[in-house]
Amino acid sequence: MQTFKNFSIIFLGLFLFLCSALSLANAEVQQHQFVIQATKVKRLCKTHNSITVNGMFPGPTLEVRNGDTLEVKVVNKCRYNVTIHWHGVRQIRTGWADGPEFVTQCPIRPGGSYTYRFTIQGQEGTLWWHAHSSWLRATVYGALIIHPREGESYPFPKPKRETPILLGEWWDANPIDVVREATRTGATPNISDAYTINGQLGDLYKCSSKDTTIVSIDSGETNLLRVINAALNQPLFFSVANHKFTVVGADASYTKPFTTSVLMLGPGQTTDVLITGDQPPARYYMAARAYQSAQNAPFDNTTTTAILEYKSAPCPAKKGLAPKPIMPSLPAYNDTNTVTAFSRSFKSPRKVEVPTDIDESLFFTVGLGLNNCPPNFHKSRCQGPNGTRFTASMNNVSFVFPRNFSLLQAHQQGIPGVFTTDFPRTPPVKFDYTGNVSQSLFQPIAGTKLYKLKYGSRVQIVIQDTSIVTPENHPIHLHGYDFYIIAEGFGNFNPKKDTSKFNLVDPPLRNTVAVPVNGWAVIRFIADNPGVWLMHCHLDVHITWGLAMAFIVENGVGELQTLQPPPPDLPLC
Ligand code: C2O
Repeated sequence: MQTFKNFSIIFLGLFLFLCSALSLANAEVQQHQFVIQATKVKRLCKTHNSITVNGMFPGPTLEVRNGDTLEVKVVNKCRYNVTIHWHGVRQIRTGWADGPEFVTQCPIRPGGSYTYRFTIQGQEGTLWWHAHSSWLRATVYGALIIHPREGESYPFPKPKRETPILLGEWWDANPIDVVREATRTGATPNISDAYTINGQLGDLYKCSSKDTTIVSIDSGETNLLRVINAALNQPLFFSVANHKFTVVGADASYTKPFTTSVLMLGPGQTTDVLITGDQPPARYYMAARAYQSAQNAPFDNTTTTAILEYKSAPCPAKKGLAPKPIMPSLPAYNDTNTVTAFSRSFKSPRKVEVPTDIDESLFFTVGLGLNNCPPNFHKSRCQGPNGTRFTASMNNVSFVFPRNFSLLQAHQQGIPGVFTTDFPRTPPVKFDYTGNVSQSLFQPIAGTKLYKLKYGSRVQIVIQDTSIVTPENHPIHLHGYDFYIIAEGFGNFNPKKDTSKFNLVDPPLRNTVAVPVNGWAVIRFIADNPGVWLMHCHLDVHITWGLAMAFIVENGVGELQTLQPPPPDLPLC
């Protein structure tokens, strides 16, 4: 009897072992090394010492499957502090690997290194990674592509080819100098000189046509473009001449397919689209240029192009023989109607479980501001309008990043004096947010204020743009979460009439919401990922000015609801 028992225990053990081995067999641990280094990059006829990953611009594309684990050792061989953020990765219980400087870690110093370890859980589609320190992400970014688990497939016919399309923004200067100068003067930073597609500017800029990005297609085939707006400060329109897109995903969540001839992506956002080779074999431009919603603000109005080339198209080898590619028509720079129609087309593929019975109903204003010149400042340092300095805030708090500890470390170790938890749940003063705002409301207060959430709380945030200085479409990004965008609109959010417009059936799930200019968006999520999570405008110029806040999400019950311990090589300040 005893032997039989032993035998069955051994058998059961073997069975369990086989089961777990089988379920793990598909998930892989990928190891990579990212060396941050200065690299010569020539654009607009001029060579710059750009900061890159492994000498590549854009940086390497990472391709994983849902369920895989990434271990990326980042070695800092450049002269700046750096961190890397895995934009849109949920980082469930691994907040230490999220990356925003002074939020989840101190920067990796020149000469230092840090290994980011995290698992992709329940996400499929296109994300990206980028530096999250000063303005380094101008050149330090790349695609992070998440395929379905082995044996699983897309919810659409398998595309013949897949191409990441990274939209970027190029300064004919050192971006770090640009932001440092702006921080000194208090003025708006110099605008960029060009946009890029996969690092290349395209035919419309000087010294650029021979390196134009070519995307091939064959007649009749359907391909997937994974479009990422990696630009620092500019929402962008994107189109391909004579072709339509079928949108199938955004921010690593699938969407109900819809067709459109133009996309708009705020910085931080991604959109997966299918494109079919249904036009006469030729060469067609794909082009991106600004969507500019701010008023009286200078912006880069240039256009970047790449070429969609049919494989059977006449050979362009001999100059002048092949006709010029066909150019798409892009919306006007300020075409908010097109943006609205586009963003209202996004739906989840099917009915989803949107949190109801909200525990935390929050209302956050987002917008710019102007600080009066501090008495000890020379006037050269107050070059904003009428001798002021530009600033930005959420709920009238202009976020100040700590310098001596990361927020996550301070939270986890109970270090006092680094932050307070009194971020207001509503604006301290109610006013006509999108009207003609009194100058007396232009100066926010500075602070490192966080908002605490209990594990599992159901959160709703109304994000309201203000017209202070200028209204603007702000791409608001939340770290550590995806959220449902249940409504958006113009003017001031009005709970009495706008609540009835909430889509609680099939709203899109995203990590970055482009809040309409002079309008609002409502998002919902469940705070089920413990840690400290930054929420900010993804226009880097606005983070620089303080358009950010952070949530503390407390641990829940038991290990699976608790933040993991910090890795031993976590950079400290
Ligand atoms: Cu794309 Cu704070 O990040």
